[in-house]
Amino acid sequence: MSSFSVTQAQGGIIGGVSLPGDKSIAHRYLILSAISRGKTIIENFPLNKDCLVTLSSFKKLGIKINGSLKGHSSASVITIFGKGLHGLSKPEGPIFVGDSGTTLRLILGILAGQNFQTRLNAGASLSQRPMLRVTSPLRMMGAAIKSKIKKSLPAGRQKKSKTKIEEYPPIIIKGGNLKGITYRMPVASAQVKSALLLAGLYADGKTKIIESVKTRDHTERALRLFKANIKIRQDGIVMSGGRDLSSPERLYIPGDISSASFFIVLGTIIPGSRILIRNVSLNPSRTGIIKVLQRMGADIKVSSLKSQVSKFEPMGDLIVKSSRLKGTKVKKEEIPSLIDELPILMVAACNARGKTIFEGAGELRVKEADRIKSMSDNLKRMGVKVTVSAASGSENITVEGVKEFKGIRAKSFADHRTAMSMIVAGLKAKGETVVDDIKCINKSFPDFVRIISKLIHC
Ligand code: S3P
Repeated sequence: MSSFSVTQAQGGIIGGVSLPGDKSIAHRYLILSAISRGKTIIENFPLNKDCLVTLSSFKKLGIKINGSLKGHSSASVITIFGKGLHGLSKPEGPIFVGDSGTTLRLILGILAGQNFQTRLNAGASLSQRPMLRVTSPLRMMGAAIKSKIKKSLPAGRQKKSKTKIEEYPPIIIKGGNLKGITYRMPVASAQVKSALLLAGLYADGKTKIIESVKTRDHTERALRLFKANIKIRQDGIVMSGGRDLSSPERLYIPGDISSASFFIVLGTIIPGSRILIRNVSLNPSRTGIIKVLQRMGADIKVSSLKSQVSKFEPMGDLIVKSSRLKGTKVKKEEIPSLIDELPILMVAACNARGKTIFEGAGELRVKEADRIKSMSDNLKRMGVKVTVSAASGSENITVEGVKEFKGIRAKSFADHRTAMSMIVAGLKAKGETVVDDIKCINKSFPDFVRIISKLIHC
């Protein structure tokens, strides 16, 4: 275990950062490049654990990928030699997807279209995360899927209630002969939506996805870029299968807004700060963090919007200056646009006047760790009042702002976003904060500690 210690930042934090490409976009660009015809060059591909696992998975499926993946750089230019929609080959053994939920759920969509059997093994944390949400609709499309099944009684219920069945990795999937379906999403999940759209590429007829709450739309944008037959309609997203994809040849991945969020909150809560964040992804389905913080009184300026450079994904520079925050209510419908930023938004909420309520945040329970538990355990020990209440099938979190935080021995719960959030909280807290295990940060942002240390000591 490697721990990391911080003390309260003295004086404002002034500086600029450029970030590796967005993790969500990177998975999608790589996958579509692999199954399209021709060579694709991807710039600013982030070299984090999750994206590297998608890369190695497609190598196992017979795709040649070049690029320098080692050394000190946190992003790289990679070249993918796509083999077309039906060019993947049966891997020699199981594919290990590590703890990357996006890799696993998206690759299931692709494998549902392949006429061979694949076994997908996962790491310790992903092996505890629910998969029925994706295996169930893929089975409706025609894929044969086996997985680990666990039965449980819903928490707090007695014998009479229905037993809940959930599925977990490892997963064995054999695809082929898919047919399109119309599917109304029961859980707001971009990973599930994406898996179904990718499977829809291989299906006979149309696959229609209906979302009651919109989730990130990187897959839809990327599919259009690769010339798939996809229509975004008022009543749903419609994918018509069977059309080969063509490579856009060169793609640039804007900086990851989820990684940027730690610097946005840092610049906001440390008095006297001014942080410039260059070339960040500003896809409207991901900018919930900016909207909510601005509503709380944050001083965040979007200095230039450059959608041309990255083709279908907008990006721009952000200038964040410290400001006084006030509490707000984050509505259930806003949650998907900031789902991964909830831990760091909870840190921001501690620094606001009054209460901040996050409605319908129950999905946080099934991320890399139970983030409701990881964040409330840590923040409560720092002296913050955090309450969690059940609310129509989900959970609400209320955070009451405090005048002063106290430094603690914080636990990362082996979760990258909890670890980074607690480092930011520690920079505001009085005394020393030690985050017990920060190796998990490599999952999304291996360069985080180096970049933040440089900023603090500027
Ligand atoms: C992601 C979707 C979200 C998010 C995850 C990345 C994606 O998960 O939390 O980090 O790239 O599609 P869900 O689909 O489970 O909401």
